[in-house]
Amino acid sequence: MIAILGNASGIVLGREARAGGWRRLAAAFAALLLGLPLGAGAASPATEDSCATCHSDPELLVTNKKLYEYYQQWQASIHKEEGVSCSDCHGGNPRSNDKTVAHGKGVASSDPDSGIYYQAIPETCGACHDDILEGFSKSNHFRHLVTKKQEKQGPTCVTCHGAINVDILTVNSVQESCARCHNETRGIHPEIPEKAHRLLNRFLSIHRFYRYISTNAEPEEAKAFFGEIDVKLRKLSVTWHTFDIAAVEQQTGDVLAVLKAKRDEIRQRRRAGTAEAEAAAAGDGGGRR
Ligand code: HEC
Ligand code: HEC
Ligand code: HEC
Ligand code: HEC
Ligand code: HEC
Repeated sequence: MIAILGNASGIVLGREARAGGWRRLAAAFAALLLGLPLGAGAASPATEDSCATCHSDPELLVTNKKLYEYYQQWQASIHKEEGVSCSDCHGGNPRSNDKTVAHGKGVASSDPDSGIYYQAIPETCGACHDDILEGFSKSNHFRHLVTKKQEKQGPTCVTCHGAINVDILTVNSVQESCARCHNETRGIHPEIPEKAHRLLNRFLSIHRFYRYISTNAEPEEAKAFFGEIDVKLRKLSVTWHTFDIAAVEQQTGDVLAVLKAKRDEIRQRRRAGTAEAEAAAAGDGGGRR
């Protein structure tokens, strides 16, 4: 449906880097589209959002503290920043100020009609993260979402990213996250957490090379280079979500090789440049002053 544009380097960059200029515009545009499906004219989506308005009631802090905390989580989230509201994930009718009408057939995770019902979550998140959903639906995890026995159930987006105030697993957190299911006790591929840790370590190297190049390349050179590498990174992020470890390893190796070659090229040029400058400065001798 609505593709999230400008996400290309999301795989390795920090939130600040990713949330820059034009991608923010793209997200705002998407939010605007989402605010208008009922042909309600050009009113700002925020004022039409009964969910957030009612759930922000400070009275709830006293009457239903837990509920209020969910609102606070949303307040602190990147999704709030990007104009993604409660109903985008939960469903319901954000144009009614009446609680019963707004909640409709159900907005809780136990309601099969809600967008946050366990098996519905990938589709819900995938409405915006569509390429990632495409990768994820090819995974063994996706096939195991419908498994009845809970101990055999595969993870959904929320298992790894959290629900409202989402986060991205890092080299430090990934092992523990996978090991919730992939461990000796359960006996499903207990070697996976270690493998995932190694892979994310290599993602970190990608991040470092990427940073070096973006700081030190000439502007024209950077534009051409990142135009290509961002597409590869995007693909890698999609492949990651297929959880086909061999494919991820291969693509990670390819991307690393390209980045490293570029980094080495720039570094050599800079060294040569420095040597030249030093020689010139030495030649200049006492001629200054
Ligand atoms: C088993 C754990 C796991 C599951 C399930 C999972 N992810 Fe991820 N996801 C990760 C990890 C680890 C990363 C960080 C690696 C990377 O940057 O690709 C990540 C990265 C991301 C990113 C940031 C990367 C980018 O390119 O912007 C987004 C967005 C994302 N996942 C969304 C989703 C969505 C949506 C789903 C469900 C359809 C999902 N994930 C399912 C583990 C998971
Ligand atoms: C007029 C106020 C009001 C509006 C509008 C409203 N809610 Fe609620 N919501 C509540 C209250 C109060 C509760 C606490 C449980 C109850 O009284 O039903 C609640 C509970 C919830 C819960 C927890 C349900 C559960 O069973 O644990 C979710 C999720 C939720 N609302 C989401 C939404 C979404 C999404 C929208 C917009 C489509 C929305 N709400 C609109 C007042 C509102
Ligand atoms: C990015 C998607 C997303 C957004 C935006 C979001 N939620 Fe949720 N929310 C979820 C998911 C997914 C869960 C279920 C968590 C789980 O299964 O562990 C959840 C759980 C909840 C719960 C606990 C009830 C339950 O059924 O688990 C409440 C209450 C809630 N959200 C309220 C809100 C409110 C109010 C907003 C807006 C101010 C909001 N959420 C915005 C995805 C979202
Ligand atoms: C209405 C659109 C929309 C929906 C629905 C949505 N997201 Fe997002 N999400 C975004 C946008 C926009 C961003 C910010 C740009 C980016 O990083 O992709 C984002 C960012 C993220 C990130 C990156 C966070 C970071 O730290 O940079 C993750 C992870 C993520 N979403 C997971 C989810 C999950 C899990 C769900 C479902 C529970 C979900 N999203 C539902 C639009 C959406
Ligand atoms: C909620 C439980 C759960 C979590 C958390 C989880 N997995 Fe899985 N995973 C499963 C299940 C269930 C299977 C299917 C096992 C089978 O084929 O019998 C699976 C299968 C896999 C497979 C396929 C193995 C194969 O050879 O077919 C890979 C790879 C994998 N998981 C990687 C990961 C990674 C990486 C993480 C952490 C980022 C993770 N998983 C987190 C439950 C989980």
